[in-house]
Amino acid sequence: MEFLEELQRRRTFGIISHPDAGKTTLTEKLLLFGGAIQEAGAVKSNKVKKGATSDFMEIERQRGISVATSVLAFIYKDKKINILDTPGHKDFAEDTFRTLTAVDSVIVVIDVAKGVETQTEKLVEVCRMRKIPIIVFINKLDREGKDAFDLLDEVEQKLGLRVTPLSFPIGMGYDFKGIYNIWDKKLNLFSADNKQTVSEGIEFSNLEDPELDTIVGEDAANTLREEIELVSEVYPKFDLTEYQNGSLQPVFFGSALNNFGVKELLDCFTEIAPTPQPKMSEERLIDSKEEKLTGFVFKIHANMDPKHRDRLAFVKIVSGTFKRNAPYLHVRNNKKMKFSSPNAFFAEKKEIVEESFPGDIVGLHDTGNFKIGDTLTEGEIINFKGIPSFSPEHFRYVNNADPMKSKQLQKGLDQLMDEGVAQLFTLEINNRKVIGTVGALQYEVIQYRLEHEYGAKCTYENLPMHKVCWVQPEDAKNAEYKEFRRVKQRYLAHDKHNQLVFFADSSFTIQMTQSKYPTVKLHFTSEFE
Ligand code: G4P
Repeated sequence: MEFLEELQRRRTFGIISHPDAGKTTLTEKLLLFGGAIQEAGAVKSNKVKKGATSDFMEIERQRGISVATSVLAFIYKDKKINILDTPGHKDFAEDTFRTLTAVDSVIVVIDVAKGVETQTEKLVEVCRMRKIPIIVFINKLDREGKDAFDLLDEVEQKLGLRVTPLSFPIGMGYDFKGIYNIWDKKLNLFSADNKQTVSEGIEFSNLEDPELDTIVGEDAANTLREEIELVSEVYPKFDLTEYQNGSLQPVFFGSALNNFGVKELLDCFTEIAPTPQPKMSEERLIDSKEEKLTGFVFKIHANMDPKHRDRLAFVKIVSGTFKRNAPYLHVRNNKKMKFSSPNAFFAEKKEIVEESFPGDIVGLHDTGNFKIGDTLTEGEIINFKGIPSFSPEHFRYVNNADPMKSKQLQKGLDQLMDEGVAQLFTLEINNRKVIGTVGALQYEVIQYRLEHEYGAKCTYENLPMHKVCWVQPEDAKNAEYKEFRRVKQRYLAHDKHNQLVFFADSSFTIQMTQSKYPTVKLHFTSEFE
């Protein structure tokens, strides 16, 4: 197959949701359609079980599963679909944010009874900022839940989306009769015992057809007619360009557990979801159709076997063809590298591949050369943008608990930070190290891994801070900036790229500081214009 054909076949996306909304179940059903797995229950949930914060076996189990399910690929209607897994647990949100830099679109799963939940809000906000095309799947229609119109309102208001329903439920919970698919004008009837078989649906281009009353009953038929009319009056019509530029979001209803509404979702997805998109670098815009290889590392996974310290770096291919054993430039290190056993992912297996194309993810064995955000090219100096660090919300000083092992501690901390487990800051005033994380769980992971993988011990001391802000002076020489640095000296530190950050103990402090020093800009992410 030609390069351009391969590119046009790729659809790379992520599924995001609040834990328990049904992401794992939906993923599994999608893989079943692709024939990539044979039975339900084959995809393991990657979530940390509730209350598992002190259970290290659970953390290890979690890491194992998340390697296995990092990328799940399958072929459907001749399209190569790559699903990038995102952890639902809020303590791993940073990992999810980074994965979102490697997707071309997302599906957001919402529980019909719970509606829009906090984790979904945060993740969708990141997608919106990046204008990532979104399809919404409202799940668990076999249960009692919120009214469909109320839910659509909630999605618009809480998630800031502009929705257009492409399917609509007939009843709900106990009375759930099925779904009218507005997209291809078909009626799908629900029966709780048709879990593994999927009916093609009944053509219904005209809802006035009295046949509808016979099939779903007069009341339900009339309600559906009214509701579909309302939908066409209230919501904008689906428009491919608007969906693909992130300004319109189609909505589907269904029940992943019952495999209901999933095929409709997948069929529509393969038709409308974008092919691999161009990506901005610091130097220029890289078009996916360019024949020279470019790609970037968005995730690094440590080997769980402590005897084999190598890691797996996940590279998203932006343009060109990635070839086994071809020399590529590791831009940050200015070093040529060859990879004799690049891994591709298929269903839950990984295997060595000769070639990969834009949209694909390759897993490269790494002995410590890669950091998140690193770029590979055929020689051009390109640095991809858009993998910012977000401000952590928990901060602790890290102390060495075994003076004989300070080198091991340093190495361990460096490598864990390269993997993106947490962020390390060094205070200007005394060089003390501070670890910042999104959730408290990471501190236990770090302590455990330092001991088991690097033979180092650490203790923590709480640092009651609210956020870090990345500092951007308008003019590094002006008196205001000098004054800021002098007054705030105790709160200034450097991140791993040596960028200056300001530790703020409250949002009030941030406001005050900003109004006192208006030429010193404070940012919540490490990348800004
Ligand atoms: P997550 O990955 O988003 O965290 O959610 P997951 O798929 O694990 O689903 C969370 C729970 O919701 C699971 O039940 C799952 O079976 C259930 N579920 C998913 N889709 C539907 C649906 O369409 N209808 C109904 N009624 N339930 C659904 P669990 O009891 O927590 O786990 P399990 O023991 O069934 O695996």
